[in-house]
Amino acid sequence: MSPETTPVAIIGAGPAGLLLSWALRDAGINSIVVENRSQEYVLARIRAGVLEQGSVEYLTRLGLGDRLKVEGMEHDGIYLQYGGERHRVDFNDLIGRTVTVYGQQQVVKDLVAAHEGAGSTIYYEATDVAVHDLESATPSVTFVYDGEQHTLAADFVVGADGFHGICRASIPASALTLFDRSYPFAWLGILADVAPSTDELIYALHEDGFAMHSMRSPEVSRLYLQVDPGDDIANWSDERIWQALQTRLGVAGWTLAEGAITDKSITPMRSFVASTLAHGSLFLVGDAGHIVPPTGAKGLNSAISDVTQLAEALTAHYKNDDALLGRYSETALARQWRVQQFSRWMTDMLHRSPGDLQSDRFDYRSQVGQLDYVTHSAFAQRMLAEQYTGLRL
Ligand code: APR
Ligand code: PHB
Repeated sequence: MSPETTPVAIIGAGPAGLLLSWALRDAGINSIVVENRSQEYVLARIRAGVLEQGSVEYLTRLGLGDRLKVEGMEHDGIYLQYGGERHRVDFNDLIGRTVTVYGQQQVVKDLVAAHEGAGSTIYYEATDVAVHDLESATPSVTFVYDGEQHTLAADFVVGADGFHGICRASIPASALTLFDRSYPFAWLGILADVAPSTDELIYALHEDGFAMHSMRSPEVSRLYLQVDPGDDIANWSDERIWQALQTRLGVAGWTLAEGAITDKSITPMRSFVASTLAHGSLFLVGDAGHIVPPTGAKGLNSAISDVTQLAEALTAHYKNDDALLGRYSETALARQWRVQQFSRWMTDMLHRSPGDLQSDRFDYRSQVGQLDYVTHSAFAQRMLAEQYTGLRL
């Protein structure tokens, strides 16, 4: 088969790849997306659910805001809970900004529908995906689709293929350093058919560990529990999950309503950053370049931020200005390191270290001290508000 040509070949149809392709289309630049999973699989993945105000604005500007506007739940703040007491941090009051609770799954659904309506080229279930000649100005992508070998000749290849993808791995080891941090805990997440028992998200530090109450709609709740990273979901009956949630989220005078659990899984946590998001004609966006623990809800928002910057840089390139593209990695990583710091801070403040559970309780007392400070200092609350609703650099 003779090669297809496209300005931008995008590997991965997660939120980062689908959004970049859509943003480029909006700027009049064609792209082709190659994804190794099926469309059904991509649509079924349940992930995080909080959009920063800037993310909402960007999606809306690109014409992706119709359902988000109706079904997204705008929240003015969050609750921080510890020592059996719940405290509210009001972002809107503090800095005039809000967040919107709207599942990543819904963002992907909107993107898939938009691309289908526009007739975009997205190859799902591609196998043997490989990238070539990335250090040249004529990179290419090869893959097998429907039993046929395909070649895409492109100006640029974008790795939107997540943490386990092939693109970051194709950068020579001599040109790449990986920074990472692991955590001695994981999140057990559930979806339940029950109206949320809260109007805004609750992040709770309890002596037994972290718990959180989020939501997906007025009828569906999303809840999380800190568990051991080696734990097996089979050890967690629905009854045990609700019991732990009741204990860790409980405060006097409040009831957590229970409902049928429709999904449950355990996800490990890590912090990870690649030292570069650019190599020759290759650019990385989203989880391919960095991962955060979910406590600050920054994974999807970081992917959107990368896409915002790369789409703008590629648009400038096709208007003969390469300055932004030359700075993409540096600019995106500078923002990402601030996000990393925030996600780590939120995570460390709200989780119990397993060693500390058994032995002395210094860490826990110190975490309570920190939460006391954050919930009582206007300065500290403002710092949280600025970062949670999205840094504008
Ligand atoms: N070839 C083609 N596609 C691939 C390959 C490959 N070799 N390897 C991975 N992919 C696909 C995956 O199947 C997936 O659909 O790339 C896509 C990557 O999507 P995500 O993992 O969702 O990553 P990203 O789009 O960067 O989204 C980041 O997802 O994990 C969450 O918290 C994270 O919210 C953040 C968001
Ligand atoms: C979610 O709703 O899934 C969610 C919300 C906030 C977080 C993480 C996950 O910090």
